Amino acid sequence: MIEYSIDGDGIAAIVWNMADRPMNVMNGESLAAFREAVYKAIADKAVKGVIVTSAKGDFVAGADLVNLLKESKDAAKALQNSFALQKLFRDIEKAGKPFVAAINGTALGGGYEICLACHRRIAADNPKALIGLPEATIGLLPGAGGTQRLPRMIGVSKALPMMLEGRKVDPKAALALGMVDEVVPPGELLIRAKAWLLGEGQTAHVKPWDQKGFRVPEAANTPKGMQVFTAGNAMLRARTMGNYPNAQYIMSCVYEGMLVDIDTGLKIESRYFVACTQSKEARNMIRSLFFSIGEANKLANRPKGVPTQAYTKIGILGAGMMGAGIAWAASSAGLQVVLLDSTQESADRGKAYSAGLLDKRIKAKKATEADKEKQLGLITATTSYEALKGCDLVIEAVFEDRAIKAEVTKRAEAQLAADAIFASNTSTLPITGLAEASARPANFIGLHFFSPVDRMPLVEIIRGKATSDETLARAMDFVKKIRKTPIVVNDSRGFYTSRVFATYVNEGLSLLAEGVAPALIENAGKAAGMPVGPLALADEVSLELMHRIRSQTRRDLGAAYKPDSSEPVLGLLVEKLGRMGKKAGKGFYDYPVDGKKRLWPELAQHFPVKAEQPALADVIKRLVYIQSVETARCLEEKVVIDLRDADVGSIMGWGFPPFRGGTVSQIDTVGLQPFVAECDQLAQKFGSRFTPPKLLRDMAAEGRSFYTA
Ligand code: NAI
Repeated sequence: MIEYSIDGDGIAAIVWNMADRPMNVMNGESLAAFREAVYKAIADKAVKGVIVTSAKGDFVAGADLVNLLKESKDAAKALQNSFALQKLFRDIEKAGKPFVAAINGTALGGGYEICLACHRRIAADNPKALIGLPEATIGLLPGAGGTQRLPRMIGVSKALPMMLEGRKVDPKAALALGMVDEVVPPGELLIRAKAWLLGEGQTAHVKPWDQKGFRVPEAANTPKGMQVFTAGNAMLRARTMGNYPNAQYIMSCVYEGMLVDIDTGLKIESRYFVACTQSKEARNMIRSLFFSIGEANKLANRPKGVPTQAYTKIGILGAGMMGAGIAWAASSAGLQVVLLDSTQESADRGKAYSAGLLDKRIKAKKATEADKEKQLGLITATTSYEALKGCDLVIEAVFEDRAIKAEVTKRAEAQLAADAIFASNTSTLPITGLAEASARPANFIGLHFFSPVDRMPLVEIIRGKATSDETLARAMDFVKKIRKTPIVVNDSRGFYTSRVFATYVNEGLSLLAEGVAPALIENAGKAAGMPVGPLALADEVSLELMHRIRSQTRRDLGAAYKPDSSEPVLGLLVEKLGRMGKKAGKGFYDYPVDGKKRLWPELAQHFPVKAEQPALADVIKRLVYIQSVETARCLEEKVVIDLRDADVGSIMGWGFPPFRGGTVSQIDTVGLQPFVAECDQLAQKFGSRFTPPKLLRDMAAEGRSFYTA
């Protein structure tokens, strides 16, 4: 696990090498072994210096979160563990002999904090390696000295964004930031580390903060520090709306810690760290953003017994916004892509989208001209269906029109091998119905991408009634191949993501219809943690499109169609006022060409604002709970099968607030019984859309929760 050796020159090597893990992680066992090696090296007079490195491709990837969650159940014990770890790292720092971190690969979180405790950090020039303190992204904070050492080392204003945003950088960028001291060719890493230990290291093993008179230049009691913290707190508030206690704790660790000596600072950090581990926000984020997304990426729900499909060539029908984006994603993963549209010009435009993205990457030094040529060489823009011959999969992204989709399905299938998969990227039309146009409905499936495809990591896979297990498994293989995260749902109107996402937008419209001030609605959406307010979102989706989808649904469902209170709002804006949304330059907002969007001042004439306004917290509750109730219906109706998919889909698909853990975790966070009781009250006041489904009532009655941890 941790190898220890001493060479003839008195240089000890402490090498992380956890045989039973793909990556080195910090847990009780590995830390105990590391501790033993460290104290052995410190105690041994023959040891002149110590190299800490790894025998694996990475250095140390951070804490073992399973272990962390278990160990932190008891806060008092967790605090003692944290103090013990701080002491170990502090003893490295004060060893009286030099320690160098030879960072051969990725060093994140606790892994990088080991490096921070060493007297020098030398990184191998490995562009794939990532260095940083990403704890904030899962509701935690760097709790092994990171919040104290990094700002002391590189300055408060540089350290804060690294920690608050949880940024990970490559070794060269880390060097530029001062996070490592040297970047050397991989083959020279250990040689250079040893040379430093035997040379400069023999005298340079006292940290600046252990030297007399050390001051943190940007501490809060300096003029520069005052500026940094004042602006930093304001920016943090704007970004997080106070929803992420860990982010505030990071600020506090740095603010308080820089005013005191390092040992006191480390104690402060330990206390805030343990507070994080006890927070529901951290539990939610670790569960959904780490474990559940991890399981989805590992294809945990892939039907068993189907051989993995290797993809080489796929087809895309329709080179519009979505088709062009999917072509980019597939060609980025090295697949050949036949990008077909009804005119050569449209097909070429679709391909040009990838060229544009590649140009941006070249400008950002993330790709070369050769990369561009290679990737564009994979994309064939065409109008010819014959070019689809040999495709393992064809994805249709033509207009949202059943007749057109049926026609392209037939024409494409005529060119395909019998076992090829045909997928539709429809956003609203049930897959089972679309599959009627297919000669082999068992091979027909929904692959619902999100816009913009190059940035959105989720794909919602929709199983039609006839879709086979084999097709599902192979479609999941494709999503993995293009490095996106799949969730699997059953066919239903709006599937899962569009259906639940729509409830957020509709609730905003209903609030408006009731006379709630538009600014209150929008601010409540953002304060709830959603990326944008519901009215702004409606404008972005396009009011016209929402109206069209509703009309289609009404026609499809006939007497079974149930209009809600948002419907007249949409009807008025689209039909009477001609306000179609953002693209048209007017919707709930005005979009002046030369300025920022602003709420349409005349909204109040059409939706008079009530004299008495609800409390912000009540509006937030409605906007959030409605999404969770609808998700519970999706679970009850078996539209979503795995609750982890519901959480992952809500966060990655439409930006449901990560600190809430997703639409399902949100219910657990509130507690089943209070959630059901509150929904009953909301239903009484605002309508049956809040009525909890039987599933929730039963769970509440039995005292159950969705997750056990
Ligand atoms: P778009 O209008 O940008 O692109 C559609 C493309 O299909 C156009 O280039 C058009 O020339 C082409 N096309 C139309 N009929 C054709 C035919 N018979 N043969 C070949 N090409 C044909 O539309 P967009 O936004 O890319 O949407 C495409 C599909 O993706 C729709 O089903 C839509 O519902 C769905 N979708 C859209 C999302 C979005 O955010 N826009 C998100 C997820 C799914």
